Amino acid sequence: MSKRLRKVVFPVAGLGTRFLPATKVVAKEMLPVLDRPLIQYAVDEAVEAGADTLIFVTNRYKHAIADYFDKAYELEAKLAEKGKETLLAQVRSTLPSHVRAIFVTQPEALGLGHAVLCAKPVVGDEPFGVMLPDDLILNEEGAGALGQMAEAALTHDAGVIAVEEVPHDQTHKYGIVATGDEIDAHASKIRHMVEKPKPEEAPSNLGVVGRYVLPGRIFALLEKTRPGSGGEIQLTDAIEALLQEQSVLAYRFAGQRFDCGNKRGLVRATMHLALRDPELAPAVHEAFAAR
Ligand code: G1P
Repeated sequence: MSKRLRKVVFPVAGLGTRFLPATKVVAKEMLPVLDRPLIQYAVDEAVEAGADTLIFVTNRYKHAIADYFDKAYELEAKLAEKGKETLLAQVRSTLPSHVRAIFVTQPEALGLGHAVLCAKPVVGDEPFGVMLPDDLILNEEGAGALGQMAEAALTHDAGVIAVEEVPHDQTHKYGIVATGDEIDAHASKIRHMVEKPKPEEAPSNLGVVGRYVLPGRIFALLEKTRPGSGGEIQLTDAIEALLQEQSVLAYRFAGQRFDCGNKRGLVRATMHLALRDPELAPAVHEAFAAR
């Protein structure tokens, strides 16, 4: 893709049923991993990748996400008055001042493809990122996953989708890609893509994880996409159509992914970060030693 990525779409209209009853009132993207909500990790990764316009596709129950990125005048005034500078900096750090957050609603839960299509009026005809905040990806060695992908999109003038090997019996939970020519150590051309195939029908065990760099052209293809897997309008199906027109790369990112869309992944991510925090690590070790 010949233009630098500036806009990133966050589809955050899901119901979060795996975390009921907490998600009766708390958006699942607001569940904390240590002291920061899941959405913050994704936003930080987007900003690091160069994004300055973040588009949240929400539903009418998700006001907490907008509130979280809004300026908290009263809280900030109180902290300033009490001279609590560190806390004040933390409260202000949710969104850097050069970045704007835009909220659009998805009136009906018609699928991921439909959610992305809701961002069309804001994105227009330029390359953009899509991030699913459930997939928390940490790369302690260097650039975040989206930053790596944005670079690859520029270098190879192509769409880029993050992939990872998934257990063969789990293919029905992912978009699965079949790849052809290897471009370099991280990227291969996608030949074919299918949403949530049964293991016996899966073309490989390379699963799509929640990071995409796509051209604006995808919107026209999404408009033509009919309901697919689960009766929903699938992003995977529109990308499959895009493959007829241009290169899309499957990208094996550097970093570790935690699927925080379920309890196991959320606990693993929390433990991982706690063990890296000098103040929390002893408490984790003590908890295990006491068992
Ligand atoms: C979505 C996509 C799927 C992808 C997955 C990654 O599915 O449709 O292709 O593999 O995210 O997390 P969901 O998990 O929203 O059902």
